[in-house]
Amino acid sequence: MKFFIDTANLDQIREANDFGILDGVTTNPSLMAKEGIKGHDKVMQHYVDICNIVDGDVSAEVIATDFEGIVREGHALAELHPQIVVKVPMIKDGIKAIRYFTEKGIKTNCTLVFSAGQALLAAKAGATYVSPFIGRLDDISFDGVELIQQIVNIYTIHGFETEVLAASIRNSMHIIKCAEAGADVVTCPLEPILGLLKHPLTDSGLEKFLADHNK
Ligand code: E4P
Repeated sequence: MKFFIDTANLDQIREANDFGILDGVTTNPSLMAKEGIKGHDKVMQHYVDICNIVDGDVSAEVIATDFEGIVREGHALAELHPQIVVKVPMIKDGIKAIRYFTEKGIKTNCTLVFSAGQALLAAKAGATYVSPFIGRLDDISFDGVELIQQIVNIYTIHGFETEVLAASIRNSMHIIKCAEAGADVVTCPLEPILGLLKHPLTDSGLEKFLADHNK
């Protein structure tokens, strides 16, 4: 299972990359705004800066919601750097654009996915990644991890190559549950990734080993 970091914060991307477990980055317009990245040129440069830190795929989201606009923005993003994956919303023109990009050999990430039916359409269109948002589903009392299992099952039965990228991850347990459910990728902030390190028996065990060594 691949680990992506879900942020536009360059320090956190560097920290996760230095940790040695990072396979890629996802961003979205809200995450860019959170870092104060505004204006077309600055946004484009920021994507290049991210690509220069990590080796893997970097999802960059289109703003347009019509087919022509998505295609225009997607081409501009894909031309920025070979690591860019064009992130397209789960709407009718988005699916049409994903099919278009697939035929051009441009990688895509279908975002804002909340149902198995939507995931089926993304796979049919040839999306490289599908992003079910599990945390936002949990927020409204739907089981996000159950959706991951359902999508993984459908893709396995039908041999779809689209990778299931579990998004909107809120805690370390989400990561473990997504791993059990067969997600190909998890994308999350740095905190839940670092949370995987923690266990009180590791801390007390290490403390004792070091104390015994010093005796
Ligand atoms: C996915 O690619 C999105 O950027 C992200 O995971 C959304 O997470 P949130 O629900 O915490 O905003």
